[in-house]
Amino acid sequence: MPLSALEFACRMPKAELHLHIEGTLEPDLAFRLARRNGITLPYADEKALHAAKNFTDLQSFLDLYYACADVLRSEEDFADLMSAYLERAHADHVVHAEIFFDPQTHTARGIPFGTVVRGLTEGMRRGRDLGVSSRLILCFLRHLGEADAWATLAEAEPYLDQIDGFGLDSSERGHPPAKFARVFARVRAFGKPVVAHAGEEGPPAYIVEALDVLNARRIDHGVRAVEDPAVLARLVRERVPLTVCPLSNVRLCVFPNMTAHSLPRLLDAGALVTINSDDPAYFGGYMNDNIRAVQDAFKWDRATWAQIARNSFAASWAGAGDRARWERDLEAVVAM
Ligand code: HPA
Ligand code: ZN
Repeated sequence: MPLSALEFACRMPKAELHLHIEGTLEPDLAFRLARRNGITLPYADEKALHAAKNFTDLQSFLDLYYACADVLRSEEDFADLMSAYLERAHADHVVHAEIFFDPQTHTARGIPFGTVVRGLTEGMRRGRDLGVSSRLILCFLRHLGEADAWATLAEAEPYLDQIDGFGLDSSERGHPPAKFARVFARVRAFGKPVVAHAGEEGPPAYIVEALDVLNARRIDHGVRAVEDPAVLARLVRERVPLTVCPLSNVRLCVFPNMTAHSLPRLLDAGALVTINSDDPAYFGGYMNDNIRAVQDAFKWDRATWAQIARNSFAASWAGAGDRARWERDLEAVVAM
């Protein structure tokens, strides 16, 4: 019996390109780190924390996400967070992950930048032992000002060989990409690739700004591109990857339910779509949970899922040798 389309999609090797490491903090780890660091979380237990994950929009999520990050204090905390994620990703046949971190969430609490980066890179080293390769992407918080981003970039400079790219996240509405035009010009002068969250809650015009002003190589989310045919046509023409996060979009009410998601319209238009988990501890699951939810709604065939995996490799920053090896591994699963 050949694998069903769902079995195939879960089993196929793939890359995850839109994942916030702070968004992988599961309640059990949050309480374990709180105990380890002598911190009292504002929730009685894991069940109470879980019950707080009833979001109405992006901001309602971000408020909880930033509050929970307070338990992350030491290098070991960041390493444990990273290795826990990479173990879960590995179980879902993720072979490569390009991972966001939000240094400002930590440095604002007095955690040194170096503590964060050293801890995360130690976790990435443990992930390599499992066979999962990874990259680190520094995200600037767009609700903060340009001066804050400049200060963060200055702190990042001694660690540039451990930072593979730069991104832009947090509250999108009212914070257009152009707010950080000069900071990202400097980032590009360092020779680092740029990505940006755009077209999640913000309008399609923010996608255009991310491309034209920041020179973003990928658009994180981008799901509102379907509202402007010219923007969607451009994304297709220029082969700009979209890192789509289906469960996130439904949980944050970008779409009322999965069947209303713009994914089929993006795919039909020929966009370079990838599937990702964003903040899996908050949105109901990791890579294969997203795949199950999408498959439940859209019943894609195996060829469509294989294309999603190929897109994830093509959109990644991995070397040609690694990408070719994963493509071969994918073909072996296609033959199953
Ligand atoms: N959007 C914006 N900022 C974020 C997100 C997101 O989906 N996840 C974590 N920070
Ligand atoms: Zn995100």
